[in-house]
Amino acid sequence: MADKSANDNGKKRILTGIRPTGQLHVGHYVGALENWVRLQHEYDAYFLIADYQALADHIDDIDLIRESVLQVGIDWLSVGLDPEESTFVIQSYVPEHAELTMLLSFITPLGMLQRNPTLKAETEQLRPDQLNVGFFNYPMSQVADILLPRADLVPVGDDQAPHIEMTREIARKFNRLFAPESPVFPEPGTLIGRVPRLSGTDGQSKMSKSRGNAIALSDDADTVQKKVMGMYTDPTRLRATDPGHVEGNPVFEYHDAFNTDTAQVDDFKERYRAGKVGDVEVKKALVVAMNNFLDPIREKRAYYEGHMSEVEDALMEGTRRARATAAETMGAVRDAMRISSYTRTWE
Ligand code: TRP
Repeated sequence: MADKSANDNGKKRILTGIRPTGQLHVGHYVGALENWVRLQHEYDAYFLIADYQALADHIDDIDLIRESVLQVGIDWLSVGLDPEESTFVIQSYVPEHAELTMLLSFITPLGMLQRNPTLKAETEQLRPDQLNVGFFNYPMSQVADILLPRADLVPVGDDQAPHIEMTREIARKFNRLFAPESPVFPEPGTLIGRVPRLSGTDGQSKMSKSRGNAIALSDDADTVQKKVMGMYTDPTRLRATDPGHVEGNPVFEYHDAFNTDTAQVDDFKERYRAGKVGDVEVKKALVVAMNNFLDPIREKRAYYEGHMSEVEDALMEGTRRARATAAETMGAVRDAMRISSYTRTWE
């Protein structure tokens, strides 16, 4: 197999992505973005804005996707992803994603999708009339996202692990069927983030904008204060003098994730368990910690909002590089499948 691309410097390649369906939040940060910022130096990193995949459940809100593509670009730049160091990709500008999705679907048994636990859980949330074929097939398109740049590793949250497992199976099958001598696709591994699943401010479920329990990276200080002061805590504790639970308490989960003053956090935990500190004091300190964490991100966001052409350039330059890689991979795929030339004069 020829060199994967000119700019990979012999580094292993990672690909990961996000669906542009709204503002990114602090759960994205600790579950993914923070990890990506670190990984971009160690790997040849591809970061995908999966706007085609977002259509799976947003076909009636394409405007939201349109707006979110640039917003995700701003979020990425604001948290420190570097478009010189890594490759930002807009999925819909690389039509090879669709082509590879289709070709791979012919070697993918239906049962593989039916058994995928993440897809199963998601489809069970939908009414039958909401479940379109594209939704059902989205893990398949995600397999193509990963295989198109021939990624070695995929940094994702734990809910995405079944899709990566599926990617490995399909890569293996493709290589066995069409390229037994020199495999076209690596079988990618998974990298899980520091906080695989940050709870929402309601403490009920994973943070997600659609559940209204998220703190966005773009929230201002007052919004953060309101959200934190309204957070759920230990439901079994009625008075500040009752011994409280730290485990499973989202306020402490956030302290652990965002408060850099670990001595303060330890002190709060001890006093909370002993019934010697009230929720309000613990929350007020969390407001400060969250705003300290978000301030530098806000500053950069303000800069990029005033320099949108830099955001657009970052996205377009990366997408151009990704298209070159994608064309190369599709060449190898078509050759392997022997659908690249039918007559001697074409080709
Ligand atoms: N499904 C992922 C999510 O919702 C986003 C995604 C799309 C992705 N394509 C990808 C993740 C490829 C990893 C690799 O978070």
